Amino acid sequence: MVFYSFLTTRSLSLSSAMASKIKHVTVIGSGLMGSGIAQVAAQTGHTVTMVDVDVVAVDKAQKRIENSVQRVAKKKYGDEEEASKFISDTLGRITTSVDAVTAVGSTDLVVEAIVENLEVKKKLFSELDKAAPSHTMFASNTSSLPIAKIAEATSRKDRFGGLHFFNPVPVMKLLEVVRIPETSQDTFEAMTGWGKALGKVTVECKDTPGFIVNRLLVPYMFEAVRLLERGDASARDIDIAMKLGAGYPMGPFELMDYVGLDTGKFIIDGWHKEYPDMSIFNTSPLVNKMVEEGKLGVKSGEGFYNYNKK
Ligand code: 3HC
Repeated sequence: MVFYSFLTTRSLSLSSAMASKIKHVTVIGSGLMGSGIAQVAAQTGHTVTMVDVDVVAVDKAQKRIENSVQRVAKKKYGDEEEASKFISDTLGRITTSVDAVTAVGSTDLVVEAIVENLEVKKKLFSELDKAAPSHTMFASNTSSLPIAKIAEATSRKDRFGGLHFFNPVPVMKLLEVVRIPETSQDTFEAMTGWGKALGKVTVECKDTPGFIVNRLLVPYMFEAVRLLERGDASARDIDIAMKLGAGYPMGPFELMDYVGLDTGKFIIDGWHKEYPDMSIFNTSPLVNKMVEEGKLGVKSGEGFYNYNKK
């Protein structure tokens, strides 16, 4: 069964981008997720402002986007001329800024993808709430924090939701659209419509820990670590088992390295603190030790695997 046709969705995406209420998007945070969101929005015809705290961060993000758009163009277009037009059109739709408050002055949607710290996110949204036009919708791409707690910092809970993307954003087809009880139907529909305009398949979820994917994926990764901690099997064999036995594109240790052990630890620590009696949220001594040693996965050169080896 062909569930999802990329080419058809792409042409639909461009036309629904025209029809969508959301034309200008401001993405705050230019890390892996933020830059990926900015890229996909620009690829599908939206005007994008990508914001970070300093020029070094936005420059790094722009380079990452350039590389990624080239990969996408190579995959989509056989014709070199079409590919280079796609690349220059996409990059031309992205401007950068180091001033979030000014950047949101005329935007339709803000997507926040900054550090996973509730207080920092609340402070940001409280400032943006005063600066953004009243029609502007706010969304957080948080992996594990409650959307309702972030939205508390604003006077626009009806125009607030969660838009949770997956890494690598240009490749992963899913977008979780999260509503809090106050999210209006208009906001929910606009956010879902925007997700479709990006070429994503959207799913709806309540504001529950980890939404759908992380709620299942994070305990699964930590259960794999517990198998390793007990000496039941090696990381490599567990990865092989899940790839060949369950058809996953990456095994749990490859995925943990890819997502970042610090990110995994941050998520599980937060849930364990909130729900100490739920054993699926148990923390891992091995992951704690590795994070302490700076073994964060691909980004640090070493995690469960070593990425520095030739
Ligand atoms: N930008 C653009 N294109 C990219 C890309 C990027 N950053 N990364 C990969 N691609 C494209 C490549 O061009 C390639 O296209 P091709 O097949 O035409 O050459 C295709 O994707 C496959 O890439 P690779 O050949 O490099 O590698 P793989 O086939 O191993 O695929 C993968 C890489 C897509 C990452 C795959 O391994 C995968 O799906 N892994 C699972 C990822 C996952 O589970 N992500 C979710 C993590 S959880 C999360 O993000 C939530 C957060 O809150 C923590």
